Amino acid sequence: MMAPWREPLARALHRNRSLVYSRYIQLATVRGDGRPANRTVVFRGFRQGTDDLQLVSDGRSQKLVQLAGCAAAEACWYFPKTREQFRLAGQIAVIVSQTADPTLSLARWQMWQQLSEAARQQFTWPDPGQPQLEGADFCQPSPAEPPDWFCLLLLQIDQVDHLNLRADPQQRSSFQRRADSWTQVNLNP
Ligand SMILES: Cc1cc2nc3c(=O)[nH]c(=O)nc-3n(C[C@H](O)[C@H](O)[C@H](O)COP(=O)(O)O)c2cc1C
Repeated sequence: MMAPWREPLARALHRNRSLVYSRYIQLATVRGDGRPANRTVVFRGFRQGTDDLQLVSDGRSQKLVQLAGCAAAEACWYFPKTREQFRLAGQIAVIVSQTADPTLSLARWQMWQQLSEAARQQFTWPDPGQPQLEGADFCQPSPAEPPDWFCLLLLQIDQVDHLNLRADPQQRSSFQRRADSWTQVNLNP
């Protein structure tokens, strides 16, 4: 059964579908020294048959360094048309080339095939976040197989805070997962 927050989120995605940037999410992670780190990523759908939110990223980037030390993460998603915010918190599972689970390994491979050529090409660029060297090559075609540092990230959500500014009065709901069941409480906004 789908988590109860999937329905309002699916509705928000549908109603904001004309805005390409409604699929951009802010993803926060925790640095080694406890400070937050935050950046924009593209929502790549939910993993089939689960409530896990899919993202892709480069294993050489700082967020992957941070996730190796602390898997906790929170996504913050604003839908401008319906004026809703979803905050989705949980743990990120990182699926890499060495991931043994065949289903997860296949999901990573399929995600690579689904990306646009422009998105795949970014993974051929030199190390992200490093000083740019003279003559650095950004023009390599993308390989058919995902490079080792291509990561599929699965945000396994255990807490959701949904705020609807458009309702009068505003509405706020909190969803908590315990084992496999969810509880929902309406909060003061
Ligand atoms: C609109 C937009 C979409 C982005 N999508 C992604 C993405 O899907 N995955 C990703 O790793 N970085 C994406 N980025 C780049 C990140 O925001 C970030 O600059 C980069 O991943 C390095 O982050 P880090 O140093 O915290 O790892 C996107 C940036 C923007 C502005």
